[in-house]
Order: sequence, then C-alpha cells, then structure tokens
Amino acid sequence: MSLIEQAAKRLEELRLAGVAIPEAATPPGLPPAASLPSEVAAASPHAPARHPQPDEAVVPPPATGDSGPSRRVELDLAALSASGIIRPDAPRSQVADEYRVIKRPLIANAMGKGAAPIANGNLIMVTSALPGEGKSFTAANLAMSIAMELDNTVMLVDADVSRPSLLRMMGLPPAPGLLDILVDESIDLRQVLLRTNVEKLSILPSGTQHARATELLASDAMARLLEDMASRYSDRIIIFDSPPLLVTTEARVLASHMGQVVVVVKAEGTAQGDVKHALAAIEGCPVRLMLLNQAKTGAQGSYGYGYGYGYGG
Ligand SMILES: Nc1ncnc2c1ncn2[C@@H]1O[C@H](COP(=O)(O)OP(=O)(O)OP(=O)(O)O)[C@@H](O)[C@H]1O
Ligand SMILES: [Mg+2]
Repeated sequence: MSLIEQAAKRLEELRLAGVAIPEAATPPGLPPAASLPSEVAAASPHAPARHPQPDEAVVPPPATGDSGPSRRVELDLAALSASGIIRPDAPRSQVADEYRVIKRPLIANAMGKGAAPIANGNLIMVTSALPGEGKSFTAANLAMSIAMELDNTVMLVDADVSRPSLLRMMGLPPAPGLLDILVDESIDLRQVLLRTNVEKLSILPSGTQHARATELLASDAMARLLEDMASRYSDRIIIFDSPPLLVTTEARVLASHMGQVVVVVKAEGTAQGDVKHALAAIEGCPVRLMLLNQAKTGAQGSYGYGYGYGYGG
C-alpha cells in the first residue's frame, strides 16, 4: 500500500472513530487526506515541557544603523532529535518521511510551481484553533525538513509574540527579534536574524517582550515587514509559528498576509466546531492545509493531513 493509500485509510479510520475532519479540507483532484504512522507522539525524555512563561529577551538589540551579518547560533541536533524534531544529518527516519510528504505541496506553492500562482506563497503560517495543538512543534519540523532540500532556504519566525516558545524548543537562549524590528523600524531584519549550524535554516526570534506585543503583530508595521519579507526573500520559504486562531485576533490579521496557512488540529482533542470556526477565520487565504497531529490508534501515534484550497482576497 502506498504512503498516500495508507494515509487515506488511516484518516478514514479516524473518521469512523469520530474524529472531526471537515469536508472542506479535502480539495478535488488531490488525495483526500493522509495520515502517517509515527512514534513521535509518544512522550520522549527530552520533550520540552509546556511553559506558560514567554521567553524574555534579555540581550539588547544591536545598535541601529548596523546592518552587519546575522549572528550565528549552534543548535544541539541530538537534543532536538530526542524531542522529536528532525535532524538534517540523520539517516532516513519515519518523522522525516512524514514531513517529506507534508512539505511537498507547500514548497511547490511557495516556488510558484503549484497549480496556480499564489501571492506571497513563500509566507507560510502554522496555526491552530486552540493553544497546545502542536503549532510550534510542527513549525520547527517543517522548517527543518524544508532546510534539508537542496534548493530551499528557510526562515523560521516565532510570531507567537505573547507566548513565544520556539527558542526554548530549539534549545536557544532569548534573543532580540521580530518585536524589536516592529518597535524600531531602523533595526534591520538581518541584525536580529540568527543563522544556525543547519546551513539553510535561519531563525527570527519573537524578540524583547513588549506590553503591546499583540497590537504590534497586527500593526501596519508588521504588514509592511511581511510584504518586504515576501519580496526581498522571495527565494526563501518563511515559516511563522503563530498564536491560535480562536483565542486571539492577531492570528487572523497575520493569516490575511500569508500565501499559505497550515492549521494544526490535535486529533481527538479539538471539537469539530472549533476546527470549522478556525477554517472560517482564514477563509481569505489562498491555500489552507490541515494537519492532523498526534492521532493515535492503540499505542501508535500518527500524523494526518488534508488540503483545503480556496481562492479569495
Ligand atoms: N506530534 C508530536 N509528537 C511529539 N510531541 C509533540 C507532537 N506535537 C506536539 N508535541 C509536544 O506537545 C507540546 C505542545 O506542542 P506545541 O508547543 O508545539 O503546541 P502549540 O500549539 O505551539 O502550543 P501553544 O498554543 O501553547 O503555543 C510540546 O511539548 C511539543 O513538543
Ligand atoms: Mg506554540
């Protein structure tokens, strides 16, 4: 049985088990959905614990006017791998195989090789209806998986500015980033962007905590930055770890600038109504992809995904 067939079968099993999978998520002409077996959903000893505390950026932003090269950080690939994040130098793994299937259409759309050209297709937002569905985990894995491609470079952005977790998840200390650029437009993206030991992966932290962080994320300055990113880095795929759609308003505003939105749905954890509302909130986005995370049958975890395409403003 092919991967897609297995996945389709798995999703059907989930449907029968009562897991809500909206019809809208299945576009004509594409595999209905896929779900792939995975061990990753099982707790791993290094899995980072959930923390309500945001990362506090303690390092001051660099002096303005300096557009020198980005700072380089070391990712501990072994620790990341132990917490379920793909490592680019490892031999084929099941998780890597899963993300290989998931990333293909995203890359095609981003590079203008999809069915139709997509405005800002290289801006990909990872969100969910509610907190704790696996957005940051998915964003990190997608970024790592895409960074393994020969042709693609990736920027992973922590846009969950009021509850950032990406740096902690990647084992990195707090650092200036997105909020610093939004507060002071004379700071250039390159000054706060972190290059990593994964050659094609750079990380933009959420930055120094700000009382009006959520307003900044929904601001005109952010809209300008996104347009700038989409054009200036059009050869780069930019993945945004984002706040959940149903408990924040800024996530919707952010989604309205994105070419593609991945909605992570925690299997057997998210009510069908919530998924529908979340999809409705991003109706205007050209490409919407649903990813079923941590679906389980017996002792085995699995991912699933399905696609929802819609065209509009
Ligand atoms: N498929 C998975 N396999 C293993 N662990 C997972 C998986 N998905 C999520 N996790 C773990 O579950 C926890 C919650 O996931 P994550 O932080 O990605 O959720 P989130 O949607 O970003 O949450 P928040 O809304 O609070 O930002 C993390 O510890 C993460 O490592
Ligand atoms: Mg998160």
